[in-house]
Amino acid sequence: MGNALMNFTINGQSVEVEADIRSSLLDLLRNSLGFTGTKKGCDQGACGACTVLVDGERINSCLALAVQYQGRSITTVEGLGIDGALHPLQQAFVEHDGFQCGYCTPGQLCSAVGMAGEIERNIPSVVTADLAADSVAIDERELRERMSGNLCRCGAYNGIIEAISETLVKTPASSQERVRA
Ligand code: FES
Ligand code: FES
Repeated sequence: MGNALMNFTINGQSVEVEADIRSSLLDLLRNSLGFTGTKKGCDQGACGACTVLVDGERINSCLALAVQYQGRSITTVEGLGIDGALHPLQQAFVEHDGFQCGYCTPGQLCSAVGMAGEIERNIPSVVTADLAADSVAIDERELRERMSGNLCRCGAYNGIIEAISETLVKTPASSQERVRA
């Protein structure tokens, strides 16, 4: 085993990097490419701190083998805002006290944006009552279940849910993630 030259699209930019072929996507982002906004918590898929978007869907980057994500569109927290402005959800986190230490926040943000896409695609959760409905009814219980993979040791859950409710549930998910060529 050794290094290999790999190509990725990250936050709309093509990047080429030589890295250990065994690197997780999380380690590649942080250690090889300097996208340190994505955090390492448990490194085993249990906390959600490492959540990023791949083609608009949320994944735990600590469990992803980087080499398999070449050619996909990867979005990290650094790529959520547009032209230096905060993403509306980032602004809502500030206004609703959706964080304390902020360690879980990048993962919460990416996860929530991905979750909004799942709602828009009418994907049910384990607590969805009516699986035959044309659209999933989103209430606090739904949001808490759908965000349950993102832990916050500071317990900022109330602010997080308020921020998501105010921002993503009222705005089409398709307008939440920056559209990239
Ligand atoms: S660091 Fe990936 S889920 Fe915890
Ligand atoms: S804000 Fe500290 S872990 Fe969530």
